[in-house]
Amino acid sequence: MALKRLDLAGTTCVVTGGARGIGEALGRELHARGACVALLDTDLEEAEAVAASLGGDRVVALRADVTDPATLSEALRRAREQFGPVTVVCANAGIAAGAHAFTIDSAPDGLFERIIDVNLRGVWNTIRATRQDVVSTNGHVLITASMYAYINGMINAPYAASKAAVEQLGRALRTELSYCGASAGVLFPAWIRTDISKVAFGEDEVATGLVARAMPGKLGARVEPAELARIAVDGIERRRSRTHVPGFFGVYSTLRGIINPLTDFAFARDRVTQAGIRRIDERAGTGNDRNCP
Ligand SMILES: NC(=O)c1ccc[n+]([C@@H]2O[C@H](COP(=O)([O-])OP(=O)(O)OC[C@H]3O[C@@H](n4cnc5c(N)ncnc54)[C@H](O)[C@@H]3O)[C@@H](O)[C@H]2O)c1
Repeated sequence: MALKRLDLAGTTCVVTGGARGIGEALGRELHARGACVALLDTDLEEAEAVAASLGGDRVVALRADVTDPATLSEALRRAREQFGPVTVVCANAGIAAGAHAFTIDSAPDGLFERIIDVNLRGVWNTIRATRQDVVSTNGHVLITASMYAYINGMINAPYAASKAAVEQLGRALRTELSYCGASAGVLFPAWIRTDISKVAFGEDEVATGLVARAMPGKLGARVEPAELARIAVDGIERRRSRTHVPGFFGVYSTLRGIINPLTDFAFARDRVTQAGIRRIDERAGTGNDRNCP
């Protein structure tokens, strides 16, 4: 079924993780295009500050934790009550390891579970809580994955695993919605200037060095959230299946079957990369009992 381009003016758009970073920027861009925007976040104060800065009666901030379906459905009930059924859902809330990078070995207990809970189960909960609205309005779901869905996930494995998994959810959802006149797409940001990416841009010295080595020059440049939001919302209007920011990462993604075996091979033989990984293990106290040269 060929779907019409989405006209966002007057529609109800929900953004999870809408208080900061990419979610805030998506909310601002959707609002600028005439949509009524519900910013859902665990941090109500920050979401309210964003809503207040937008002003007017087309924006609301609501507390919701994507890992808790009850808070999610209450926030959605209030969004519907205020603006009507939801047409666009940005399943965007996500977390990473924090200020320090870890290997699989050195990650603190519970970190993997927490990241999967928010990044994967949170997206699952969001999709299921909004499905009926999206179908009834011929709407669109945008799932924020990451380039970590397809690049090597060294020193960021739980995050990379969660993002590879949400790419699969997005692809399946698009196909499953196709007979209902609704659509879904996946957003693959590379490096965006928000809190999450600070770890690889100065906050963790070892991670910063490893990222700069693996992604030199333009590959490692950070994009402003507002620029990403303009591209992502264009993608929502056009119901794009995949949106890469910056766009040239789309070429990498298309060629991933060829590039990934080569990069995996190179990383596993690169002594500087190995030394960085060893430092991460050693500073966490997990590197010493290994039978490593
Ligand atoms: N910044 C990047 O370089 C980058 C790159 C690729 C993908 N992403 C993805 O973009 C999304 C947004 O990240 P960001 O960079 O804006 O990070 P951010 O930390 O600036 O913002 C994340 C927002 O999500 C909220 N949040 C966290 N857990 C939540 C929960 N359980 N329920 C509801 N809200 C919750 C936070 O309070 C925060 O407002 C994430 O899914 C992230 O993985 C970011």
